[in-house]
Amino acid sequence: MIGRTSKCESKNIFLHAHHSLTDNFKMTVEKNIHDKLGIITFDQILSMKTDSVIALAHPNIAFIKYWGNRDEALRLPANGSLSMNLGALSTTTSVEFRSDLKQDDLIIDNVNAPPAALQRVSSFLDILRERAQKQHLKAIVISENNFPMGAGIASSASAFAALAASASRALGLELDEGELSRLARRGSGSACRSIPAGFVEWQMGRADEDSYAHSIAPAEHWDLVDLIAIVNDTHKEVGSSAGHALAGSSPLQASRVADCPRRMQLCRQAILKKDFSTFAEIVELDSHLMHAVMMTSSPALLYWEPATIAILKKIRDARLQGLQACCTVDAGPNVHVLCLAQDANQVERLLQTIPDVATIYRSPAGGGVQVLA
Ligand code: PMV
Repeated sequence: MIGRTSKCESKNIFLHAHHSLTDNFKMTVEKNIHDKLGIITFDQILSMKTDSVIALAHPNIAFIKYWGNRDEALRLPANGSLSMNLGALSTTTSVEFRSDLKQDDLIIDNVNAPPAALQRVSSFLDILRERAQKQHLKAIVISENNFPMGAGIASSASAFAALAASASRALGLELDEGELSRLARRGSGSACRSIPAGFVEWQMGRADEDSYAHSIAPAEHWDLVDLIAIVNDTHKEVGSSAGHALAGSSPLQASRVADCPRRMQLCRQAILKKDFSTFAEIVELDSHLMHAVMMTSSPALLYWEPATIAILKKIRDARLQGLQACCTVDAGPNVHVLCLAQDANQVERLLQTIPDVATIYRSPAGGGVQVLA
């Protein structure tokens, strides 16, 4: 079970959760639950033990990328993938199911979510409601990120991992790590990798039952750091859900997928042996292969900006000079620069010399999803 506690432990967990939540999040929960239920303070909500459950999850960065689905509805991936949770970044989500609501309600970072986001969350919650046989219940979902949304850092992984954990618990479902990972996958494929801790592998599986993620090493295993260089913080034109559907139209996707087990094996071994040179080569190759597929799909997806290429070149040149750093790029123009903790300041200074690098976020490896209260 994930962070499961007995009733007598729950008071302490509440207190712990209370202290660890940001004031902003507490105020949002208080205001919205107050508006809905007439309850006054967060302390009272906690002491009343409403049926709300709060969970926290980290986003992750893929070293071997997931791109393309064999089954779009079930989000069964075309290939396996490998990632690291980003411990400094997190999404905290509170879910309460009630019988007196007409529809689900979703608040993200203090703002009512747009209809498309609410629809996606409601469809995800439907899977859980059906499983728990509680179709009559609607949810109040309140979510907060400690990093700006639209800053180019994928928030759907942490969002659906936190939602899977909080909503399943709120409905009284007791899911083990594999089941939670399978469930999170239905919201956003990469979310299944934010359930287990540290360095994580998503086995593509043969069907829904065996397509989930597991940890290959804990966060403490390797002091890798991700420096996320933000070059453009506007929302991407084609999101990853739509992008996956285009992958098969590229003539390069079949070769990318066929070679994936080899890359997975090399990358897994490099992580386990902390072999940065092999890791760097395979991570950059894998990212370039995914972008080659994106650029050659119909219609073509071109996520890179001039600053993206400037960073890729700068880091490659620095690596040739002996610096241990490498790049990977998701479905956007921002560059994740991976290095060892001991080199992070030097790499950050290098990134700061590149025009158009607006902000740099830094994160070490992080743990898995946690139910806080
Ligand atoms: O989980 P999604 O549907 O947002 O897809 C994630 C796709 C990439 O971020 C580009 C790659 C990955 O494996 O995370």
